Amino acid sequence: MPTVMITGANRGLGLEFARQYAADGWKVIATCRAPARADGLRTIDGVDVHALDVDDFDAVAELAETLNGTAIDVLINNAGIYGPKGYSLDEMDFNVWRDVMYTNAMAPLRVSQCFAPHVAASALKCIATLSSKMGSMADNTSGGSYIYRSSKAAVNAVMKSLAHDLAGQGIGVLILHPGWVRTDMGGPAGLIDADFSVAGMRQVIAARGDLSHSGGFFNYDGAEIPW
Ligand SMILES: NC(=O)c1ccc[n+]([C@@H]2O[C@H](COP(=O)([O-])OP(=O)(O)OC[C@H]3O[C@@H](n4cnc5c(N)ncnc54)[C@H](OP(=O)(O)O)[C@@H]3O)[C@@H](O)[C@H]2O)c1
Repeated sequence: MPTVMITGANRGLGLEFARQYAADGWKVIATCRAPARADGLRTIDGVDVHALDVDDFDAVAELAETLNGTAIDVLINNAGIYGPKGYSLDEMDFNVWRDVMYTNAMAPLRVSQCFAPHVAASALKCIATLSSKMGSMADNTSGGSYIYRSSKAAVNAVMKSLAHDLAGQGIGVLILHPGWVRTDMGGPAGLIDADFSVAGMRQVIAARGDLSHSGGFFNYDGAEIPW
């Protein structure tokens, strides 16, 4: 069976990815900052759990070395943060902005860079990154959310370049919007539950994780999202 590796797999969409792939018999490598507190992950049989704070770029390289020789069919860059909500232009916190850019835009590239050899050694060869429609310029009709929007726009640009750069190794790179999902980040007003969102994203990965769709930005239901 194929292998999936997921960052930020202890709660929310990451945990649901782990659940669904494990239920389908995939080998699941679940990473999270604090495995000792990852109660949800412990309820899933056979999941290989590793500590990983994606902001620790040395630790990312160390885990890649630990997993040297393991083929990873699908790498899911899921870990992300929103930063502050509801601030005005005058309240912009530039230090927090730097932190969110680091986690949401730079860390996915570090993880992808370190694990590209593992993905290249697999059969399916796909890197999928959880972005957001909020990173779309076309979708920005309301303004605000400078920090989160810019971090997701940045990761879109990063992943688009990565799609070109990894094509020679046969790796497909997908950029995914999960919908507005009822998780800690999405909040209770979200429009869909994590199981529905993840089932949709898994279908997109299965259908479009190859080179022919590499660099595409897709909604969880498969619709293409304008940049
Ligand atoms: N929910 C939505 O409506 C929505 C919409 C669009 C896009 N997204 C994106 O989908 C992804 C998952 O979102 P979610 O709704 O599941 O969010 P969530 O419920 O807040 O969970 C976020 C996950 O990311 C992990 N994480 C954050 N920073 C990390 C770091 N430095 N290293 C390792 N793990 C880290 C968290 O771990 P800890 O428990 O250790 O904090 C947690 O497991 C994110 O990239 C998010 O931007 C979500």
